[in-house]
Formats: sequence, structure tokens, C-alpha cells
Amino acid sequence: MDYYKEVLFSDFYDNRGHLIAIESGYDIPFDIKRVYYITDVKKGVSRGFHAHRDLQQIILCIKGNVKLKIITPVEEKIFLLNDKSKGLLLGPYTWREIYEFSEDAVLLVLASQHYSEDDYIRSLEEYREEVKYRC
Ligand code: TYD
Repeated sequence: MDYYKEVLFSDFYDNRGHLIAIESGYDIPFDIKRVYYITDVKKGVSRGFHAHRDLQQIILCIKGNVKLKIITPVEEKIFLLNDKSKGLLLGPYTWREIYEFSEDAVLLVLASQHYSEDDYIRSLEEYREEVKYRC
């Protein structure tokens, strides 16, 4: 499974505005079990700082912009999320840090599983140890 992948969704844009549709099975490779969104993040605040053992997620910045850094067993990469029709698919064992939220940023997350704290790796040291024998 990919550690990450950029996914482009169809934007039905006309003089009435944007309409972007995302369908499980067609546009994303999992059934959506959970949706959450993050808004009103104060200047200088960072979030994330974890990886998942099993969960897949699509992260979209549907308003404003934000930076997202990933660490995988093979690389580190920084994305600027600023396109409401472009999602980032994050697979298992992808460490993520989210920062430099614009004041108006709205981050939408579509997840393959219900919330489970057991699926989280919240320490980078633990992540680096676990990927040695899991990945
Ligand atoms: P947290 O993991 O700290 O957020 P982030 O990944 O943005 O750093 O989650 C904040 C709180 O919300 C924490 O108490 C767990 C809870 N939470 C849920 O109850 N359900 C969810 O789907 C998520 C993502 C978090």
C-alpha cells in the first residue's frame, strides 16, 4: 500500500461556484467510516505528530492553506495543501505533522476506520522502531 498519494477530484465549477464530489470505491480506495474537520487553528499551532498502523485517510484543505510534512520509512516530504479538489491519501505508517495553518484554513479528513487510539503511534521514536520490523 502507498505511504502517500496525491488524488485529484472532479471540480464541477461554474458561475454558481465549486462542487467537488468524492465517492468511495471510485475516487478513493476505501469505504469512508469517519469524517472529521479541523478549523480555527491559531497562528503558530501545529497538529498531528502521529502515524497510524492500519488507518487510511484522505486529507483535503477545502479552504485556505496549510503545510503537511510526512515521514515514511523511505523519505520525508513537505506538501502545501491549498487546492480544494486535491486530496492527499495517507496510508499506514506515514508520520504526519500539520502546521502553518492560514487563519481561514479548513482541513477535511475522510477516514477508513472509526476512531481508535490503539491505532495511533504518537512518538516519533516509537514510529522509527516499529517501522524497522513492520515495513
Ligand atoms: P488529536 O489526535 O490530538 O488531533 P490531531 O491529529 O489534529 O493532532 O485529537 C484531538 C482529540 O480529538 C483527541 O482527544 C482525540 C479526539 N478525536 C476523536 O475523538 N475522534 C476522532 O476522529 C479524532 C481524529 C480525534
